[in-house]
Amino acid sequence: MKSSAITKITTHVLQEMKLRQKKISMLTAYDYSMARIVDRAGIDVILVGDSAANVMAGYKTTLPITLNEMIYHASSVMRAVSRALVVVDLPFGTYQGNSREALLSAIRIMKESNANAVKLEGGKEILESVDRILTAGIPVMGHLGLTPQSINKFGTYVVRATEEEEASKLVEDARLLTEAGCFSVVLEKIPAVLAEKVTKEISIPTIGIGAGSEVDGQVLVLHDMLGINQDFSPRFLRRYANLYDEIRVAVENYITDVKDRRFPNEKEQY
Ligand code: KIV
Repeated sequence: MKSSAITKITTHVLQEMKLRQKKISMLTAYDYSMARIVDRAGIDVILVGDSAANVMAGYKTTLPITLNEMIYHASSVMRAVSRALVVVDLPFGTYQGNSREALLSAIRIMKESNANAVKLEGGKEILESVDRILTAGIPVMGHLGLTPQSINKFGTYVVRATEEEEASKLVEDARLLTEAGCFSVVLEKIPAVLAEKVTKEISIPTIGIGAGSEVDGQVLVLHDMLGINQDFSPRFLRRYANLYDEIRVAVENYITDVKDRRFPNEKEQY
């Protein structure tokens, strides 16, 4: 299976990639223009993450973003994408209450944005919701380790599961999500050896962020890896561009040209 020959990435394609030990690439996107570039570049999975609360809306945590706002971001992304599988985060407060509420939230995302799958944070404690969403035919991606919607419980964004008790719970949660029928699981900010163990033990693809190289794929927040957001520099983040500086210089040059009457010139007018 040559990845260039695939016209649409599905959950089955991702499963096949794990079997063939082909790495899965995943990035976030929240709007039409960025999603279009990321999709045309050939990314496998686009995550409409609730990190939109941070990078698009400027909140300190992911908690305030609403279901309506996630649907707005997801439908913008869906209008741009033809190849990538698009996964949408269920925002905080839309699935933890009970499994019926979780199902209704997932259905709204699928129906109103036309996305391909949803992602939920947590293991055993949200299993009933995961089951119910899967029963409705909606593909589910899990998310274990550092789960930012629980920041008020954790108190900090430090590496998770460094102690034996939390590590064993994470392995057990990954097994439960796999048995329930999730098609993949994100492992965020956990020791690389633990992520490798989980990746070997479960049959579905693991996607790491700050979880080392021995996972089935990697995900980063687009604005972080493009260097648009300069306030966030965890060890796991590799910056592939410095767009903050590039955009700032472009805007400064535009302002100078306007003030000095160099823009527009004769060719730029009617
Ligand atoms: O919301 C998000 O961007 C995420 C990734 C960090 C995995 O959940």
